Amino acid sequence: MELTLYASALFLVAYLVALTVRRLRFRRDRARMIGEARSGGKVVAGVDEIPAGTVKKFWLICGKYRIDCFVVNHRGQFRAYINSCRHMVTPLDFVRYQFFTEDGSHLVCATHGALYEPDTGLCVDGPCEGLSLHALPVVVDRAEIIVGCPSGDLSFLREMAD
Ligand code: FES
Repeated sequence: MELTLYASALFLVAYLVALTVRRLRFRRDRARMIGEARSGGKVVAGVDEIPAGTVKKFWLICGKYRIDCFVVNHRGQFRAYINSCRHMVTPLDFVRYQFFTEDGSHLVCATHGALYEPDTGLCVDGPCEGLSLHALPVVVDRAEIIVGCPSGDLSFLREMAD
């Protein structure tokens, strides 16, 4: 009986510590993001860091949510999306950093194989066909890629936030 009580108390303390650390980290990152904001967004990479046909992952804090995102260079055009499949709430790169089909023509979700157009985010094949990845506004300024949060009601981010 006593052992169970001690174990429960220990678990509760560990949980509260983890929660506090998470909140502090969130506040630190949000302050940093606000402090470094430019053109209404976050500088996520230099243009040279993302050659055509490649992707870079990053996070954004939008309102009270931290979201995982990625920017893709599709034939010289930069597009950014929330890294969450439209079929189920899971990152496209379940296999880390594998976003493209073998021929490089589409973004692919590693979980069930949905295919997305890199330039529009539209799902063209798979269980989410007809839906689109959540796009983020992108600005290229002084050879840097700046990505902003979605506009409007952000409550849809709740299920994707980490
Ligand atoms: S979770 Fe992406 S296709 Fe099913």
